[in-house]
Amino acid sequence: MTTRCTLAVATLSFVATVAISSIAPPLNGQGATDARDNDRRAKFTHNNNVLPEAGSARPGSAVEALAAFDTQTNGFTDQPTFDADRTVFEDVEGISDGLGPTYNAQSCRECHQNIVTGGASQVTVQRAGHLTDGKFFDSQGGSLIHSRAIHPDATELVAPGENIRTFRISPSTLGDGYVEAIANHTLAELRDHQPASVRGTAVIVSVLEANSQARIGRFGWKSQHASLESFAADAYLNEMGITTPLLPIENTAGGRDVSAWDKVADPEDDGDDVERFANFMRATKAPPRGAITADVRAGEQVFNAVGCGVCHVASITTAPAGTPINGGVLTVPAALGNKIIHPYSDFLLHDIGTGDGIPIQPTQEYAETANKIRTAPLWGLRSRNRLMHDGLSFTREEAILRHAGQATQATSLYQALSAAQKAQLLAFVNSL
Ligand code: HEC
Ligand code: HEC
Repeated sequence: MTTRCTLAVATLSFVATVAISSIAPPLNGQGATDARDNDRRAKFTHNNNVLPEAGSARPGSAVEALAAFDTQTNGFTDQPTFDADRTVFEDVEGISDGLGPTYNAQSCRECHQNIVTGGASQVTVQRAGHLTDGKFFDSQGGSLIHSRAIHPDATELVAPGENIRTFRISPSTLGDGYVEAIANHTLAELRDHQPASVRGTAVIVSVLEANSQARIGRFGWKSQHASLESFAADAYLNEMGITTPLLPIENTAGGRDVSAWDKVADPEDDGDDVERFANFMRATKAPPRGAITADVRAGEQVFNAVGCGVCHVASITTAPAGTPINGGVLTVPAALGNKIIHPYSDFLLHDIGTGDGIPIQPTQEYAETANKIRTAPLWGLRSRNRLMHDGLSFTREEAILRHAGQATQATSLYQALSAAQKAQLLAFVNSL
């Protein structure tokens, strides 16, 4: 076990880091953009040392994770703490809290609420950039284009020429504490067991709160984060315009310094909110299954027979309690350790022909992520009706038929199914 894990992790370095000097500079960078970009580049450059995070659990001792849309803690925190942390996640921030100057929404819940706080939503954000000599450049100030501002003159516009564009829809964060508790070596083994033609990519990213320690990413449409605290700091800055000790420099509006509109000194939050967002998400239960009928059971067999389950992995066991994760900053607690979850994802990136052309960072290391997307976790699917990263697939079948590239064989096998088998498969995915 130990030997295999070591080997698996060693092979991860194929998406290895590059020297900062080879990172392309932004076009027409301005002072404010440069300071922010330098800070971000430093923080988002990991040390390339992926620890296996292999703890030892008694074989057969894993138990099912808790699953419900009930706004009750999974045991990571007690119920009063969970309720208080949820309130912070739901808080509507205003200008006096540091909102903006550019932002997308005023609270985490505005985009993460369905069926309960922490869930998914139909809210999309936009990203843009362009290619020069085959190399990707973020739109000035970053590929995320904010759609709101605290003053009309601070509005961020998509510059002409930023012709690589996408929408990205808001995913669910429910059950993400369990996902954070999956050991690096577990994700690496999933990858190594996939047939070469469908093998996913494990991306290595920085854990911001652990001094940029490397970890396998698993959150976001590109698996661009490995820790919920890192994601929360990123979202607080990039969705709401609130700076924190982890990301202390304000965003620009397309490279224009608009900080004069925002009178609150940075960092606008002392980091407490970020921890509470992370602890709220860590304490959420996983999305629960719907009714399991005979058709649903039959549909699950069809799902596996045509190869959907190779990427949409049905069951993963989290690292045992006591395992240090996130570069040692977090130890897996009993509530999250040695739990069996059913995310229907491998949390790896795949090229199924839907890539939006925008890499995790505009660097050589992440260039291959431009046309790959994380296998969308299908848990909670029955509560969503706008599908795929851009939310532009209206029906389950349209989403399935968009699968090409590495999923070509699964799509062909799906198309060859009888009408009855297709109906069973759809009954199954609609039970998730
Ligand atoms: C304007 C809408 C919006 C707001 C506000 C927002 N998010 Fe998100 N969130 C998104 C979108 C869109 C994604 C996917 C982004 C991507 O991958 O490019 C996302 C992804 C996430 C993820 C990854 C979930 C997963 O399992 O992959 C986490 C965690 C998260 N957000 C936490 C937060 C927190 C915490 C806040 C508040 C500080 C917040 N978000 C505010 C839209 C939003
Ligand atoms: C090679 C890996 C792979 C295989 C095989 C695969 N998928 Fe996917 N699936 C993905 C990826 C990656 C996405 C996200 C794509 C995007 O958003 O652009 C996805 C997205 C989806 C979605 C949309 C979920 C959402 O929340 O928007 C559904 C539904 C889905 N897949 C069902 C299936 C079914 C059914 C099969 C088998 C016929 C299948 N997939 C086979 C990788 C795969």
